[in-house]
Amino acid sequence: MSEDKWKTAITDIGPGKIRVRGYDITDIMENLSYAEAVYLILKGEKPGRAEAELMNAILVSSIDHGASPPSVLGARTVMSGGNSLNAAIAGGVLVIGDSHGGAIEQSARIMQEWTAKDDEVSVLADRIVDWLRETKKRMPGFGHRLHKTDPRTGKLFQIAERHGYGGRHIDLCRALETSLAEKTGRSLPINVDGAIAAVISDMGFDWRLGKGFFIISRLPGLLAHAYEEMTREKPMRRLGPPPYEYDGPDEREV
Ligand SMILES: CC(C)(COP(=O)(O)OP(=O)(O)OC[C@H]1O[C@@H](n2cnc3c(N)ncnc32)[C@H](O)[C@@H]1OP(=O)(O)O)[C@@H](O)C(=O)NCCC(=O)NCCS
Repeated sequence: MSEDKWKTAITDIGPGKIRVRGYDITDIMENLSYAEAVYLILKGEKPGRAEAELMNAILVSSIDHGASPPSVLGARTVMSGGNSLNAAIAGGVLVIGDSHGGAIEQSARIMQEWTAKDDEVSVLADRIVDWLRETKKRMPGFGHRLHKTDPRTGKLFQIAERHGYGGRHIDLCRALETSLAEKTGRSLPINVDGAIAAVISDMGFDWRLGKGFFIISRLPGLLAHAYEEMTREKPMRRLGPPPYEYDGPDEREV
């Protein structure tokens, strides 16, 4: 291959040939689940049993969380404006950002950078919480508006435990929950984003893929909402009474 060609290590295609990470697509279709195939394409290797079950649980865990999250409102609003399905889904994905779906990336980054140090996880957890408090930041992946205990977190960690799976990131995640409670006096449970961050970090995924896990997981949910909006609601729907009060200048002349 000449030097000026693009190079990719992901998929090799040719007439009648599709090989993802070296495996024939028909072999993957028959022998791997969707979650295993996602693991394969992102990581380059097939998952073991524990990683396969965890990957599946991660992708299912964030598939939907009701009609109120910003990305769902985005998808439904774009659809309601009279746009195509792909525009609605793209709109929903565009709403995902540092404050919605972004906690996986931010949390995994902190966990991965701090576990590179040699200290015990309980020492690291205390130092992280001190650093966050000094810099007036929150620990991403902890706390939830609705759930006192996020049921998805317990299930992910339970699957990991069943396989004797887990390393310093899951341990650090748990230690952070304890340290946050001790130092802030608040119960800030590990939410699903924090749990996913810990699990993907123990699986060896780069924190920069964090938002990607949320996007892959939430996509079917966005599709379902956009389709429901398309088929069940009138166009240009107002989502409830105007959720704002005008507090700008009174009427005035130019
Ligand atoms: C998810 C979240 C927005 C829910 O917030 P909430 O329950 O409405 O709580 P509030 O934003 O009103 O915060 C209440 C107090 O708890 C503190 N707090 C909340 N989450 C915190 C966190 N993750 N780390 C440190 N402190 C936190 C706030 O600083 C605030 O303290 P103050 O009253 O002294 O100012 C919040 O916990 C958060 O920002 N978490 C981090 C981001 C995250 O994980 N997002 C993904 C959610 S699935």
